[in-house]
Amino acid sequence: MTPNDTQPTQAATIDAVDAAAETASGTCCGCGGADGGAGGGGMAFDNAPLDAILERYRGYEGGLIPVLQETQETYGYLPQPAIARIAKAMRRPAAQVYGVATFYAQFHLKPRGKHIIRVCLGTACHVRGGERILEQLSSALGVRPGETTGDLQFTLERVACIGACGLAPTIMVDDDTHGRLTPASAVKVVEGYREA
Ligand code: FES
Repeated sequence: MTPNDTQPTQAATIDAVDAAAETASGTCCGCGGADGGAGGGGMAFDNAPLDAILERYRGYEGGLIPVLQETQETYGYLPQPAIARIAKAMRRPAAQVYGVATFYAQFHLKPRGKHIIRVCLGTACHVRGGERILEQLSSALGVRPGETTGDLQFTLERVACIGACGLAPTIMVDDDTHGRLTPASAVKVVEGYREA
């Protein structure tokens, strides 16, 4: 170690912990793969943006939630290798980080679509055909509620009242509310958001 190496970076620290953990146990933390492995879909995981986030919160005791938030903002979701790296960097069991990530609805462990479609199934929308709209959108997009299309354009979700009952049945696409829909017009609305 040279004199300039006396202040290791967070990334170097994490890598050292990685190596030590692998040497000591040879077992996986439950992340489904090592850092640098698949982040979903077999693609390599780029540690650099995450390491920059971890460096900013280094030594901050209550940093887990903001680290998870910024990680999700950066990657669009919380990739498995990111969860494992956060756990190692923050000296916490991976299960604990997973526990927090799965407890809060704001966090997503799978990639999300560019556009989030929320179909309202509150009482007013339900009695005016919300379920049929959900079924039609599900069929048109080829995904079930909670899933994302293979091209990552759309995530389909069901929600309770979105506060526009006078327009029932309604859906939201991102921050836009669309009301007085039929199943066919809902599909048309959604297709308007499709990007080439
Ligand atoms: S029930 Fe759908 S907007 Fe209120």
